Amino acid sequence: MSDEEQTRLLREAADTRALIDQRIDALFAPEDDVLRAAREAPAAHDMPSISISPAQGKLLQTLARAVGARRILEIGALAGYSGVWLARALPADGRLISLEVSEKHAQVWRESLARAGLADRAEVRVGPASETLPALLEGPRFDLVFIDANKDDYPTYLEWALRVTRPGAFIIADNTVRSGQPLAETLDSAVDAGTRGLWTYNQSVVADSRLLSVALPTDEGGLDGFTISLVIG
Ligand code: DHB
Ligand code: MG
Repeated sequence: MSDEEQTRLLREAADTRALIDQRIDALFAPEDDVLRAAREAPAAHDMPSISISPAQGKLLQTLARAVGARRILEIGALAGYSGVWLARALPADGRLISLEVSEKHAQVWRESLARAGLADRAEVRVGPASETLPALLEGPRFDLVFIDANKDDYPTYLEWALRVTRPGAFIIADNTVRSGQPLAETLDSAVDAGTRGLWTYNQSVVADSRLLSVALPTDEGGLDGFTISLVIG
């Protein structure tokens, strides 16, 4: 096969993967005005546009419903896109607590959850997670934890997630597939702290007998995705 032919086939495969993502989003996770506004909020407020995909939101919602989630914790709130998907899985007396380091992001998040009519069951706590996590030990256990914040601290967030969840809960982390580096057999010593954190996270969940885990390419044409762990003991 010529180089040109190979390049053409690779482009076609990438286009097809993108088309599949689009079709899954459109068929299984169509956005209403609330979700669309939450997706567009980062760009409008000079924040990074790094929300999860619609299908990832639907997956979070499905997993929350599967465990009958009444209490959900999110580490990394951004503009509330995943927050809306998750809070919509809660019963009226349920609770979503989102931790966010930026007061500006938290304000946009509150607007997104208010627009969804979910402000009664959702709160964002502002500050470094190292300061907001310890208080959670005082409250009831969580049924689902979603980790989507600074990647270098994922291993620490996993330890906290294990402390605040009940058996039968899900712990889900975003970006743990990231072009394959966090899945490598051995870690390249030259990688950045974020990639190291993601790699260590995957290693840790696999090694932990309290967790049943799998990574799932769910975004970016399969180039990125979640690690999903069920707390089994
Ligand atoms: C980045 C962070 C994310 O959580 C994500 O889903 C995509 C990109 C980032 O920091 O670049
Ligand atoms: Mg992410």
